[in-house]
Amino acid sequence: MALVWREQMSVGNTLIDNEHSYLLDQINAVELALNTEENHDLLVETLDHLVEYTQTHFDHEEQIQLKIKYPLHEEQKDEHEKILAELNSIKKKLDKVLGSEEEDDDESAAFDEVTDDELNMLLGDDDLQSADKNDLAPLVELMRNWIVNHVIGSDMKMKPYLKKFPPDLS
Ligand SMILES: [Fe+2]
Repeated sequence: MALVWREQMSVGNTLIDNEHSYLLDQINAVELALNTEENHDLLVETLDHLVEYTQTHFDHEEQIQLKIKYPLHEEQKDEHEKILAELNSIKKKLDKVLGSEEEDDDESAAFDEVTDDELNMLLGDDDLQSADKNDLAPLVELMRNWIVNHVIGSDMKMKPYLKKFPPDLS
């Protein structure tokens, strides 16, 4: 089901709210690409954008937290790092599955030079060998959970602090 940003998700800052809304749209875009036939390029593109945008959003959020002297800033920063590490690791697995589907792709040609053992050492995951297209949906769902928990979970703690500032603070 498509994710829709709602007023109850508001943290009381326009920039953060807009970015959260856009983030949810980007998860929808990835899921749509996943369910689209001949989706390879679209999926790669939407996934790249989702991970990049999450990074941008976290940077903005951390800047705002510094401005309002948010007491949980350090804690949030650690959480952002953890989420990004998770997203990047999920994306790596997705790239592996997607990359193996396109034989004439430059990147996958370079990949062929790496043995499976080396790949496991690089990525630290024994499950990679057995990855196939059926693994895509649960991985995308995992990404979705990380982001949704961030938006409606930890970020809501900022609300009482942001209340003391104008909503257009950026
Ligand atoms: Fe956020």
